[in-house]
Amino acid sequence: MRSFAGRDILSLKEFERNEFFRVFEAAEKLEPIARNRRNTDILKEKTLVTAFYQPSTRTRLAHEAAMIRLGGQVTGFSDAKNTRAGDFYQESIKDTIKMLEFYGDVVVMRHFQQGAPHEAAKWASIPIINGGDGWGEHPTQILTDLYTVLREKGRIDGLNWVAIGDMRMRTMHSLGYAMSQFDCPITFIGPEDMSLTDDFKAELNQYSVNWSEAEHVEQVIGDADVILVEPVVQPDYTKSRDERSGDVAMTPANYKITRELLETKAKSDAILLHSLPRMDEIPPDVDITRWSRYWQEAFNGVVMRMALLALVLGEME
Ligand code: CP
Repeated sequence: MRSFAGRDILSLKEFERNEFFRVFEAAEKLEPIARNRRNTDILKEKTLVTAFYQPSTRTRLAHEAAMIRLGGQVTGFSDAKNTRAGDFYQESIKDTIKMLEFYGDVVVMRHFQQGAPHEAAKWASIPIINGGDGWGEHPTQILTDLYTVLREKGRIDGLNWVAIGDMRMRTMHSLGYAMSQFDCPITFIGPEDMSLTDDFKAELNQYSVNWSEAEHVEQVIGDADVILVEPVVQPDYTKSRDERSGDVAMTPANYKITRELLETKAKSDAILLHSLPRMDEIPPDVDITRWSRYWQEAFNGVVMRMALLALVLGEME
């Protein structure tokens, strides 16, 4: 297995099966620290730099919380407008990262341009973690989701997945690549104007993913063990910021998970994931049903980032 020490986490494309399990093993080992709300000194000599060119609640703060739980320091920015990359200078990724690498030992970057973290990794001498790049990928979120499935269902192989939402979404790309390493049929459901691109379909075939598409969640929810939902009403991920103006559309029934749908059609032991934030695709009355696991997913988001930071910083091998 390739070592994680010093490694960038940019994509789940060509992330090997045994590497997934190595990350899950590290997460399981570190989980009691977060569960018991303790801080340790595993990364006390290290500093995380957060470089967020797009809004985030979970990804940035989960990485920061993870670093603090492991005893490390955190610096960085959550709005590039207050940096030289976001003002008159429009400082390049190369010039910015050539500074940031002296301010810490690992960078987590979110950017509105697909490939920006890859560009940063080209120039950086420290590991770069992709916290979401445009419509590109969101590897740490899907690692979190797979870890949640493992914890909640006891296995990943052999489970039927349904993924609902905007198929241009970066999580869907990381999920598709990850599925190449597991024995999991997956059905994608999204609006026609947000459907899987031909290029991505070709990649799924190239990687032997067992995938299909459906039009309405009602058609397939009865067979699902894992139901992963993302919004179809959402901002443009290629913009640094997309403010809401006026009323927003409602989610059509095809892409919505209601309590009634779960009670009448879902397997009683299926689990429902949503990386959040949500619009109306999962109404709040679903939160207290036995299917919902998005709060566990949020907790696991910290644990997963603890594992990734410890691994790439060489404190776990
Ligand atoms: N799930 C997720 O990426 O959330 P944030 O946009 O809040 O980071």
